[in-house]
Amino acid sequence: MFAGRTAFRRLLILATLADWGMRSGLALANDWGMGAANDKIPPNNIFTPVADPANQISSLAFFVLGVTGAIFLVVGGLLLYSIMRFRARADDQGREPAQIYGSTPIEFAWTTVPILIVFALILTTVRTIYDVQAAPKPDGAINVRVIGHQWWWEFQYPDFNITTANELHIPLSDPRNPTPTFLQLVSVDVAHSFWVPRLAGKTDLIPNKLNTMWIDPHQSGTFLGQCAEFCGTEHALMMFRVVVESRERWNRWIAAQREAATQDPSTMRGRQVFESNACINCHTIRGTIARGKFGPDLTHLMSRETIAAGVATNNLQHLKVWLKDPDDMKPGALMPAMNLGDQDVDALVAYLATLR
Ligand code: CUA
Repeated sequence: MFAGRTAFRRLLILATLADWGMRSGLALANDWGMGAANDKIPPNNIFTPVADPANQISSLAFFVLGVTGAIFLVVGGLLLYSIMRFRARADDQGREPAQIYGSTPIEFAWTTVPILIVFALILTTVRTIYDVQAAPKPDGAINVRVIGHQWWWEFQYPDFNITTANELHIPLSDPRNPTPTFLQLVSVDVAHSFWVPRLAGKTDLIPNKLNTMWIDPHQSGTFLGQCAEFCGTEHALMMFRVVVESRERWNRWIAAQREAATQDPSTMRGRQVFESNACINCHTIRGTIARGKFGPDLTHLMSRETIAAGVATNNLQHLKVWLKDPDDMKPGALMPAMNLGDQDVDALVAYLATLR
C-alpha cells in the first residue's frame, strides 16, 4: 500500500511538470513579484482538467496510457520470465536450445491482436478529435479573437468592441445552459501556440491562417497559459492567464472594459508625455489620439494583474522599470526604451495608474 502511495505521489509530481515548466521561465528571469502572484493560482496539473475539451483529452490520454501500460506489463513480464527461466546455468552443455518454427495459431495471434489494439486506439482518438473539432456552437457562445504577437497576446471581443491583452476573461459555463467561449486564432508575425493545460489542448496561431478552438469551463478561477511554439527570444516569457468568472462578474468586467479611458485633470502632464511621444504609434488609449495597433491596448491597463505578458505584477514600481527600459524586464522586447527623463517617467506612470 505504501509503495502504491509513493508511486501515486511521483505521478502527481510528474503531472505538475507542465506547471513547473510555465513557472520556471519566471524563476530563471528576475522575480518581478510573480512568484507570490503565481502561488495564489492552483498548479497547472494536466491531470486535473476543469473544462471541456481538456476533459476529453485527459480521458483519451488515460485510455491510451492504460492500454499501452498493459502492453508494457505483458511484454516486460514475459521478457523478465524468459530471462530468469532460461538463464545460463552451471550444468549447461553449451548446445543450442530446441528451435521451433511455424506455429500458425501463434503467428496469427500476434499479428491480429496488435492490429486490433492499434485500431481501437485510432478509433477512440479520431472520435475525440471529431467531438472536439465538430462541436456545434450554441447560441449563447462568447466570441473572442486571439492575435499572437512577439511576445504578447491580444484578445478582442468583436461583439462588445473590447480589446485587451494577456488576460482573457471568460464566463463560467452552466452545463444546463452552456456558454462556451469560441476562439478564432491568428498571428501577425510568426507561429505561436495557445495553451492552457487545465482548459484545453494546444492550438497554433499561424500567419495567414485562421484556426479555431473553444473552451467550456466548469470551474471558476485563474488559469495559467503559455505560448507553446518557439517564436523567438522571448518565447518563454509569452505567458497569459485565463480568468474564468461567474456570469455576473464577467458582465461587470465587460461593462467596465467598454468604458472610455478615465480623464483625470490631475494627471494631464503624464497624458501629454504619452501623446507627444512615439507611445501613440503602437498603443491605443480610447478617448485620446493614441490609436496604435502594434502594442497592447492600454485603455484599461490597470485592470490587468500583470504587465509584459505575465513577466511582472502590474504596479507603479514595475511600470516605472518597464518604461525606463523594457529590456531590463524582458530582454529582446520590441518596445524601445523611450529615454524619458525621470520627471516624465513619473508623470507618465501617474497617468497610466488612472487607467482602471
Ligand atoms: Cu509565441 Cu512562443
